[in-house]
Amino acid sequence: MKKRTLGNSGLEVSAMGLGCMGMSFGYGPAGDKKEMITLLHAAVEKGITFFDTAEAYGPFTNEELLGEALAPFRGKVVIATKFGFPKGDTNLGLDSRPENIRSVAEASLKRLKVDAIDLFYQHRVDQNVPMEDVAGTVKDLISEGKVKHFGMSEAGVESIRKAHAVQPVTAVQSEYSLWWREPEQALLPALEELGIGFVPFSPLGKGFLTGKIDEHTQFDKTDFRNIVPRFSEDNRKANQSMVDLLSKIASEKGATPAQIALAWLLAQKSWITPIPGTTKLHRLEENIGAVDLQLSETDLNQIEAAAAEIQIQGARYPEHLQKRVGK
Ligand SMILES: NC(=O)c1ccc[n+]([C@@H]2O[C@H](COP(=O)([O-])OP(=O)(O)OC[C@H]3O[C@@H](n4cnc5c(N)ncnc54)[C@H](OP(=O)(O)O)[C@@H]3O)[C@@H](O)[C@H]2O)c1
Repeated sequence: MKKRTLGNSGLEVSAMGLGCMGMSFGYGPAGDKKEMITLLHAAVEKGITFFDTAEAYGPFTNEELLGEALAPFRGKVVIATKFGFPKGDTNLGLDSRPENIRSVAEASLKRLKVDAIDLFYQHRVDQNVPMEDVAGTVKDLISEGKVKHFGMSEAGVESIRKAHAVQPVTAVQSEYSLWWREPEQALLPALEELGIGFVPFSPLGKGFLTGKIDEHTQFDKTDFRNIVPRFSEDNRKANQSMVDLLSKIASEKGATPAQIALAWLLAQKSWITPIPGTTKLHRLEENIGAVDLQLSETDLNQIEAAAAEIQIQGARYPEHLQKRVGK
């Protein structure tokens, strides 16, 4: 597996990581624990060294799963986790007060069964807590040896600059894919300037860009996609043209739409490491295949031109959650 370095931090990770949220949270019932452990072990065997979790995934069960599954590989893999909600519950608002950051760090260390958290992201900017206090708290945790690197998720450029001035940020994690390209406007140029790595989440458009979801797909009643406007039946139908584009390029390249979506992300910048999520071994293998898929300048131009003609329909978050991003 090829490696990439997140910005100027020196933190080296596999060119593709594994998003672990869906194993416990967000997309219907949690996966079977034994099966998920087997999958995580397979990921390590296949060269993945970058695993993404959060206290909020469950809450807590996803961190516990990773703590158990990855215990044999301590020191050989990078586990990123996140703080920022009261009791880890995304329904209870935000909480990045220093005392909460500290108590989440202690609890995450125990659940992950590690001596230090490799990468500790603020999950969402909390406008009730000055960014300097958040970054200062993580800085203290780093000097105490409890955290190795600081990250931010779905943060706005102004917050990133403020935080970075107090404690250098290693990585920013935000949604980015062929159907959500806003990060190209202000975020990616700022990260490049500051030497911060970028970790695109939902790099497969929460599954949509793989071509395995259409307007007839029924999601489990607990699936988050039921409340995402972009996943309404009408919008899935309207957005199919993006999947058609990916399928066309995929068939020309002898690849799959998922692989084209991931290879496109990898081609954008050398300091980008996507974290596709899956609960299935064959999809993990398929997604890893994108790392060795080289898109030529001509391929990229063709995708660019065709994508420019497509108007994606529907917001990526319902209104109450949209308010939390880009702050
Ligand atoms: N910071 C944040 O706020 C935030 C928000 C969302 C996600 N994340 C992180 O980013 C990770 C990835 O994002 P995501 O899970 O939202 O979206 P994603 O990676 O774009 O898509 C995941 C979905 O695609 C399916 N899938 C994966 N590979 C596939 C393939 N080759 N063919 C067909 N279907 C495939 C998965 O289903 P199966 O499991 O059935 O394969 C799952 O439903 C998460 O696990 C999480 O760690 C962070």
